[in-house]
Amino acid sequence: MPADLVIVANRLPVDQVENPDGSTGWRPSPGGLVSAIEPVMRAADGVWIGWPGGVDRDLEPFEADGLHLVPMSMSASEIENFYEGFSNGTLWPLYHDLVAKPEFHRVWWDAYVSVNERFAAKAAEVAAEGATVWVHDYQLQLVPQMLRDLRPDLRIGFYLHIPFPPGELFQQLPWRRQILEGLLGADLVGFQLPGAAGNFVRLVRQRVGHKTHRDRVLLPDGRTVRAEAFPISIDAAGFEELARSEGVVERSKEIREALGNPRKIFLGIDRLDYTKGIYARLRAFAELIEDGELDVEDAVFVQVAVPSREEVEQYRILRDDIDRLVGRVNGDLGRIGRPAISYLHSSYPREEMAALYRTADVMVVTPYRDGMNLVAKEYVACRTEDDGALVLSEFAGAADELRQAWLINPYDINGMKQALLDAWRAPDKELTRRMKAMRRTVQKHDVAAWAESFMTRLNDDGPDSRPES
Ligand code: G6P
Repeated sequence: MPADLVIVANRLPVDQVENPDGSTGWRPSPGGLVSAIEPVMRAADGVWIGWPGGVDRDLEPFEADGLHLVPMSMSASEIENFYEGFSNGTLWPLYHDLVAKPEFHRVWWDAYVSVNERFAAKAAEVAAEGATVWVHDYQLQLVPQMLRDLRPDLRIGFYLHIPFPPGELFQQLPWRRQILEGLLGADLVGFQLPGAAGNFVRLVRQRVGHKTHRDRVLLPDGRTVRAEAFPISIDAAGFEELARSEGVVERSKEIREALGNPRKIFLGIDRLDYTKGIYARLRAFAELIEDGELDVEDAVFVQVAVPSREEVEQYRILRDDIDRLVGRVNGDLGRIGRPAISYLHSSYPREEMAALYRTADVMVVTPYRDGMNLVAKEYVACRTEDDGALVLSEFAGAADELRQAWLINPYDINGMKQALLDAWRAPDKELTRRMKAMRRTVQKHDVAAWAESFMTRLNDDGPDSRPES
């Protein structure tokens, strides 16, 4: 099976599910990473190495929907210490501005090292001579160097889908040097934004002591590592086509009808994660009703919260907090058949998401910190009539490109309330002007353009990108 393109990510792009009749099948996993990489993989006929979910699931390589998948099993203790622990209890909050408090435990770190070793060994096994290996995200930051040690012939790229924090925060990590050295095994380290690439290069200079020149790190053996921004995107044409399809147009009408044909529908779609600012946004909306600015006869907030990392304590606490808030708001402010918030704790297929985007008059995306936020871009792609308003946190990577959104600071509840009202009251002409501009951006910078620019850069054999030998 030696492959010329190998994708290495914590998760396979599918999850195993049990059908009602007891048989098993596969469905796409949630999260931005999967939707971004899948088209690239298909085009290049590559192999994808990742965890299929579940405990000790020892599966042979298989094909699903035309994708070549190599499953990596994960033991209960690896799930606890590597996945829930170091990846999502240490790195995730540390890289998201300490929105929650990161925990530092040595057993978590040990599991992180050994799982990274396993993934690197598997990549070394399936990659053809001189192949390109593209490693993804914060769960696998040690893989590039481990893989280079095993297979110096490979071209290795790494892409971080989440923010890379400023030095002041990163330096808390007891294993900061090992992480930086792990990443330096790549030829190209990609980030969402230029600021993140800058943070990385600065830290490498200060903490590892290598020479750097602009976006390049010059290693003692003569190899050069580049660190650059490649803002990720979506399959804009695919979403647009879906949004225009008869089924989705029909479904969108049904949704509006089922909600009681309110004048305006607000929408939030997020993984149920404390970085997303779901609590603050729902409070802001509820206050607008309390203040008499909005009425439940006219407006409803549909919040889809996709279940995520449910064994991690911070996520359980968040779920309880949101459940309580929604219950209280609807109890206090709702009327019969008219809840203020229509709350759905579930994941949905792309068609249903597209129908929701089509239906929503105001899309509300308010993370405290987010690498990019593809939901914001998906909404824009689905607004085929050039209408609808996007309220977007300035702390989402997407805010760098979607300048015509109503940009807000999610820590400023009054500012957020004002933006929701402004978006609600905006005249059609203004909505069209803003949406047209955003649609042009998303159509031009789609996921294919993103992947191509990363791959081109990775395979660009500059005179300084290989060791002197
Ligand atoms: C974010 C991360 C991905 C991750 C996804 C879903 O998008 O950047 O690496 O796969 O969330 O989270 P999960 O923990 O379920 O893989």
